[in-house]
Amino acid sequence: MFSDSDDIQEVPVTDVRAVVATGRGNPVEVVQINVPDPGPGEAVVRVRACGVCHTDLHYREGGISDDYPFLLGHEAAGVVEEVGDGVQNVQPGDFVILNWRAVCGLCRACRRGRPWYCFNTHNAAQPMTLSDGTPLSPALGIGAFAEKTLVHAGQCTKVDPAARPAVAGLLGCGVMAGIGAAVNTGAAGPGDTVAVIGCGGVGDGAIAGANMAGARRIIAVDTDPKKLEWARQFGATHTVNAAEADTVEAIRELTDGFGADLVIDAVGRPETFRQAFYARDLAGTVVLVGVPTPEMKLELPLLDVFGRGGAVKSSWYGDCLPERDFPMLIELHQQGRLPLEKFVTEEIALDQVEEAFGKMHRGEVLRSVVVF
Ligand SMILES: NC(=O)c1ccc[n+]([C@@H]2O[C@H](COP(=O)([O-])OP(=O)(O)OC[C@H]3O[C@@H](n4cnc5c(N)ncnc54)[C@H](O)[C@@H]3O)[C@@H](O)[C@H]2O)c1
Ligand SMILES: [Zn+2]
Ligand SMILES: [Zn+2]
Repeated sequence: MFSDSDDIQEVPVTDVRAVVATGRGNPVEVVQINVPDPGPGEAVVRVRACGVCHTDLHYREGGISDDYPFLLGHEAAGVVEEVGDGVQNVQPGDFVILNWRAVCGLCRACRRGRPWYCFNTHNAAQPMTLSDGTPLSPALGIGAFAEKTLVHAGQCTKVDPAARPAVAGLLGCGVMAGIGAAVNTGAAGPGDTVAVIGCGGVGDGAIAGANMAGARRIIAVDTDPKKLEWARQFGATHTVNAAEADTVEAIRELTDGFGADLVIDAVGRPETFRQAFYARDLAGTVVLVGVPTPEMKLELPLLDVFGRGGAVKSSWYGDCLPERDFPMLIELHQQGRLPLEKFVTEEIALDQVEEAFGKMHRGEVLRSVVVF
C-alpha cells in the first residue's frame, strides 16, 4: 500500500498501572507501563482480577530467569477490550481467563495429538514496556498485575461471565496446575489413595482434583496446621503435620503400610520430592508440580528408581488444555461441585502485592487476589 506522510502511524500506547520486579531481592513496585495496541493475533485485556502465585515470587527472586524487569501476575480473568487483525476466538466484551498454554497446533507434540505438551505456545509478539521504553518480561507470557495487558488471543479462554473474576482467574495457573496434576498427569481415579505434599493453592487444587476423581483416601501434608485445616475443605480425608511427623512413615501408616497410589509434590524441593518418591506404593506414581530452583539437586539410588516401578512425572500447568478445561471447571464450580471460592483468602489492591508475598511466605493465605 502507498501512503503519504499523514498516514505514518506511531505505535499507540496507554498509560497503565502495573506491578514490576526490577531486580533480585528488590521489593516490587507499582509503575506506569505502556501497553501497545493489539497487533495481528493479539488482544488487549482489561484485567478484572489476578491471584498472587508462588511463581510470581520465584520470578521476583530471580529463581526462574534473570530477564528483569518482570511484569508480574499471571492468574487472571478479565474482559477483552480490543483485538488485532485475524483474531477469531474472542471479541471485545468477552469475559476470559488468561492462560499460558496457547497451543500452536504445529509443533511435534501438537501434531502427535498431545497439545497439552505444546512446545511452541503463543505469546504476544509486541513487548509491553516501562515508560522509558525498556521492554518488560511478562510472567509466564501474561503479566496481569496490570490494569490492562497484551496477550496472544489464544491466551484468552472464554468462560461464563457470571463467574466471579477473583475466583475464575485462579484457574489460570495454580489451581488448574494442581487439579490437573492429580487428574491429568497423575490420572487419579475412583478408589485411589492420593497424598499431596504442600497444601498451598497448588496442593489444595490437587486435593480438589483427587476428590472430584473419586479418590478413596486423600492425605494432605504440610508443615502448617492452618494449611491442613484448609485442606480438609477441599476434600482431604487425612492430614499429616510434616513439622511433627515423618512424612513417609505417616503416609504409609495411613495407607495400610503400603504407601499411596499417587503422591504429588506441590512444594518442589529435593527433600519433598524424595518423600513423595518413597511414600508411594510399589508401581505407584509420583508427580512433581512444585517448581524447583536451578541450584537444587536430587540424588536417589538408581536401583530404587528401577525396583519401585511405576512412574515419576512432572506436570506443567497440570497438562491442561485451557479451551477444554476452564469452561468445564467453571461449570462444576457453578454447580457447587468445585469450591473455587475457598481459595480466595483475601482481595487486595494492586499496591499490596509485596505485602501479599509476605503473607504467602508466612503461610497466612491460600491466595491473595488483586481485584481492579
Ligand atoms: N507446575 C506448574 O505448572 C505450577 C503452576 C503454579 C505453581 N507452581 C509451583 O507450585 C508450588 C506451590 O505453589 P503455591 O502457590 O501453592 O505455593 P504456596 O507457598 O502457597 O504453598 C506451598 C505450601 O507448601 C508447604 N510446605 C513447605 N515446605 C514443606 C514441607 N517440607 N513439607 C510439607 N509442606 C511444605 C507450605 O507450608 C505451603 O503451605 C510452587 O513451587 C509454585 O511455583 C507450579
Ligand atoms: Zn504445539
Ligand atoms: Zn502461577
